[in-house]
Amino acid sequence: MTHSNPPNPLESRAAGPLSGQVRVPGDKSISHRALILGALAVGETRITGLLEGEDVLNTAKAMAALGATVERTGEGAWSVRGTGVGGFRSPDAPLDFGNSGTGCRLAMGAVAGCPVEATFDGDASLRSRPMRRILDPLELMGARVAACGDGGRLPLTLAGARDPVPVVYRSPVASAQIKSAVLLAGLSAPGVTTVIEPEASRDHTELMLSHFGAEVVSERDGAHGRRISLTGQPELHGATVVVPADPSSAAFPIVAALIVPDSDVVLSDVMTNLLRTGLFTTLREMGASIEESDERNDTGEPMARFRVRASRLRGVIVPPERAPSMIDEYLVLAVAAAFAEGVTTMRGLQELRVKESDRLAATADMLRVNGVEVEISGDDMIVVGKGHVPGGGLVATHMDHRIAMSALVMGTASDAPVKIDDTGFIATSFPDFVPMMRRLGADLA
Ligand code: S3P
Repeated sequence: MTHSNPPNPLESRAAGPLSGQVRVPGDKSISHRALILGALAVGETRITGLLEGEDVLNTAKAMAALGATVERTGEGAWSVRGTGVGGFRSPDAPLDFGNSGTGCRLAMGAVAGCPVEATFDGDASLRSRPMRRILDPLELMGARVAACGDGGRLPLTLAGARDPVPVVYRSPVASAQIKSAVLLAGLSAPGVTTVIEPEASRDHTELMLSHFGAEVVSERDGAHGRRISLTGQPELHGATVVVPADPSSAAFPIVAALIVPDSDVVLSDVMTNLLRTGLFTTLREMGASIEESDERNDTGEPMARFRVRASRLRGVIVPPERAPSMIDEYLVLAVAAAFAEGVTTMRGLQELRVKESDRLAATADMLRVNGVEVEISGDDMIVVGKGHVPGGGLVATHMDHRIAMSALVMGTASDAPVKIDDTGFIATSFPDFVPMMRRLGADLA
């Protein structure tokens, strides 16, 4: 995917209270995984609620190019007929993952366990992101990098292992992408593949592998870590996957409802897997009124209805061990922190430097151009909340959907409007964001 369209700026200005009920789109992490496991399974996988954003659509195309039959059968409804574990074929053309690190890295893991060769590519943002963290364990398992850019970057050609070797891999970072890539490669290996992570990262791959028929055991390792073991060469059976609403997308209307005076917003079906809910814990510590009801767990992942009311927020300290459970939410938390009274210190944010953009630098810039005092100290971000945000700045979005949405949320309550240079990348994860925020009462023009 290339965004060759001219940039599309947008301005967000304070309006009346936000109100109404919405369902944000399907979870991005689960959507990618449903397509990839469907492509590796025998028989049909039926998915409902799939996120039809550009990132996930690129994964769907890649799975088709690797030999699966992927069909859209209705709005958010998809059918995948897989090749079976190890059954991918070499694609005829490079696989283009656009802006998506998750789609690309998980697909690399799946390809690494098959005797095929595939070229992985993406947009300028993805081409700048580190891939060595994935390639190191995949090479230990027998995959080979046939060609790549500087430092193992995209475009990259990976030759999958003819006889993949199961490994015990101790990951240096708590990354669900690394864990998932190793487990997906381990599907084709005889024996048990184990990943040990220093802190627990999102566990959707493990849960979904079990749902498709694989044997996966997850145990504690140390104070915050986990040890996940997969028995290789299972027969994966096509399954039904119901995708809950994405908590990382829900984060934007939730923070907007908290900072716009007198707002009262309801969000349905928000996934509440504890490895994804660090933001909600933090916002509650800051004094946010977020009520959960209608809790359900009938489809493999817990979900609930959220009612969010405008709240007076105060600064807090966010501990580093919480980072994996809210890694994509620090940008919008920084916005909430700017509207709070007092200092918010977010610790241990080194992973933010290697996301769709350098999110530590980009978040600090977003706040500074809008008159908020912020400091980066080592891997920590410190935001000085003054109860209001002057606004009036133009925010550079750096091909990063979450910077774009965070800045627009900031503008819903700032003294002067906040402008972003481009809305284009919002479509990677939340195509309906702008119309949905307008339906809730935001003034975006
Ligand atoms: C994701 C994992 C996270 C997150 C990304 C989605 C996933 O990355 O930032 O948006 O679906 O596995 P890391 O696990 O590399 O931190």
